[in-house]
Amino acid sequence: MRKRTNYRDSNEQSIGVKTGVPSAQPKPSSCLWWWFKRGLLAFCLIYVSVPFIMRPEIIKRIVYSHRVRVPFFIDHTLPAELSLNHTVNMYLTPEQGISLGVWHTVPESQWKEAQGKDLEWYQKSLGDGSPIVIYLHGNTNSRAAPHRVGVVKVLSALGYHALSFDYRGFGDSSGEPTEDGLTTDALYLYHWVKARSGNSLVIFWGHSLGTGVSTNSAVKLLEQGIVVDGVILEGAFSAAQEAAQNLTHHIFAWHYWNFPGFEYLTQKKLAENIFYFPNDENLKRMRSPLMILHSEDDHLAPIHIAQQLYEIGKNAQKSESRARMIRFDGSHGYLHNGLYKDPKLPKVLREFVQSLAP
Ligand SMILES: *[C@@H]1O[C@H](CO)[C@@H](O)[C@H](O)[C@H]1NC(C)=O
Ligand SMILES: *[C@@H]1O[C@H](CO)[C@@H](O)[C@H](O)[C@H]1NC(C)=O
Repeated sequence: MRKRTNYRDSNEQSIGVKTGVPSAQPKPSSCLWWWFKRGLLAFCLIYVSVPFIMRPEIIKRIVYSHRVRVPFFIDHTLPAELSLNHTVNMYLTPEQGISLGVWHTVPESQWKEAQGKDLEWYQKSLGDGSPIVIYLHGNTNSRAAPHRVGVVKVLSALGYHALSFDYRGFGDSSGEPTEDGLTTDALYLYHWVKARSGNSLVIFWGHSLGTGVSTNSAVKLLEQGIVVDGVILEGAFSAAQEAAQNLTHHIFAWHYWNFPGFEYLTQKKLAENIFYFPNDENLKRMRSPLMILHSEDDHLAPIHIAQQLYEIGKNAQKSESRARMIRFDGSHGYLHNGLYKDPKLPKVLREFVQSLAP
């Protein structure tokens, strides 16, 4: 009790402290000092050791941040709880020991019909002629993140199928992420869809890190003689951007930017090219019609990078009509994730998809 009054810093108590407290009382200030010294020591130790523990494994965790999940306790088997009531949850196996959690959302017009339907019904529906979009999400979190669910809803409302999945190591998918692994996962889903989609258009939509997966996959498919029907890149970055920025603000490490000394600690390691995702190089080779969506206030991937990517894509295709760039006004505050909210987005998407029709 008396201890507590001692800690209080009010004028009324200070008189009592002066007169009534015996000198044997523990000195709170020295106690605090003890903790402060210990804390400072611990902090210094951690700080000094960080450069030595910044191994590729740790860097990988920072870049993919696949264990960062908000909200953490999401049941991916129940997409209806995120008001995706015309969605089935399934698991695909791109290679032995790897299981991918995938949501297939049918066009919104079919939501009533979809109630209580099984996997087979959903798979059959892929051949109904509606365009199909494979959504390749960015780093951190899972397919349940609000901005990802937001994109799926926009696509579904337009009458498209949306396939949104978690790469290996993300969400409820097993395994560990690697650049090749993510591409393998995307390619597997692409072929899985193509085997069921008849003549329907199949389009990639990559966001952020997923733009790298999209272009890597499109190039890989080109090597197999397949031109993807269309590629949409939202919030795209480029490998050149990282070189230009000297990696001080690596896009995928954004949630660590404020960590004191992070730039200094990770600069070298990030430069070791563990992650490449060369959007710029890929766009020089790609032959798919391209649409770049970018918000002018994107704080992670600056708009001028997207503009450069657009120029590369346009020049490589030697045709303005096969590459388009849609800028979203910075005043909306969409930043890196939010442009799915834009009222003009459905029109932009419809026009792009219509331009792909054979
Ligand atoms: C199911 O989803 C559709 C499309 O989002 C919505 O219009 C409908 O109200 C939902 N129905 C129920 C019962 O939640
Ligand atoms: C990165 O920074 C170093 C040292 O500050 C500099 O010498 C180098 O030219 C920079 N690299 C790029 C690609 O800007």
